[in-house]
Amino acid sequence: MENIKQNLQITKVKQSKLATTDLSKLSFGQTFTDHMFVCDYKDGSWQTPQILPYGPLQLDPSAKVFHYGQAVFEGMKAYKDENDKVWLFRPDENFNRINKSSKRLAIPEFPEDFFFDGLKELMQLEKDWIQKGMGNSLYIRPFVISTEAGVSASPASEYRFMIICSPAQAYYSGEVRVKISEDYSRSADGGIGFAKAAGNYAGQFYPTDLAKEEGYQQVIWTDSNSHEYLEEAGTMNVFFRIGDKLITAPTSDRILDGVTRKSILELAKNENVEVEVRKIKVSELTEAAKAGTLKEIFGSGTAAVVTPILGFGYKGEKFELPTIDDSYGKRFKQQLLNIQYNIAEDKFNWRYAID
Ligand code: COI
Repeated sequence: MENIKQNLQITKVKQSKLATTDLSKLSFGQTFTDHMFVCDYKDGSWQTPQILPYGPLQLDPSAKVFHYGQAVFEGMKAYKDENDKVWLFRPDENFNRINKSSKRLAIPEFPEDFFFDGLKELMQLEKDWIQKGMGNSLYIRPFVISTEAGVSASPASEYRFMIICSPAQAYYSGEVRVKISEDYSRSADGGIGFAKAAGNYAGQFYPTDLAKEEGYQQVIWTDSNSHEYLEEAGTMNVFFRIGDKLITAPTSDRILDGVTRKSILELAKNENVEVEVRKIKVSELTEAAKAGTLKEIFGSGTAAVVTPILGFGYKGEKFELPTIDDSYGKRFKQQLLNIQYNIAEDKFNWRYAID
């Protein structure tokens, strides 16, 4: 493969938007940086990648992405340490996962050097958008869409791989209470739940709106066969602490293999916290809540990091969680942030320097 660095074409903006952007008042995913990475696939191969001024795309109305949802994405973050050095967190995981997602959606895989060289160049150009300080980051959204014109229901022969970036503060602000789904599922066996496919998220919106009408912020999805097992919370993986045991569902074709999820599992094992990765019945949760042994629920994800869940509802009953001193969620969130912001030793080798 040719060296992309010699081929990456860069067109810079004439005037950055940064001077006129208020970075202290950001709503998640609403503000975008000056540039975007773009690479098209046609004639059987990925073409010369480009970095261009951020802006709208022009696509044929019959482009397959609009009709059949052939689209996958990733969520990553860049952090700035006290010495203005920029770091990514386990980007190899995101690279591998976007290709795993692509494969399932019949999208051609993206080359590793295109991904990393494009990402590094983009980070260099946009580093002034990253604010120092815990909680501040640059949310990075790589994605692929099918661009070929024509509504025949078959995989496209043309695609666009892009990376856009959005300066971010915390994702969920305010309290989070969840409704445990009694009849909706995020995905089914043999489906695309493990992939970060756009359609998985589209399918969540309506049941989440219904839960919001009942006063909840998110839904905990249950399995499509019996609705007896707990799977994911909203756009996050979910952890339960019963007694001092930390429990989360195993990954499967229905559950996203979250990078934050797997990092928390490693942090917990490293501290000899008793961890169980196994199926969890809704009834186990409600029984533990009634017995007073359910100490914590928290969600994990790139955007959300670790989000405490303060209560849940199931079949008309409402449960509130206690406030505890030694919260696993708080502890592992702090440990993750300390690694991400280059404050703590990186014994797992998760940080990736942008120089
Ligand atoms: C992420 O954590 O990156 C996500 O995928 C959540 C996103 C849907 C906002």
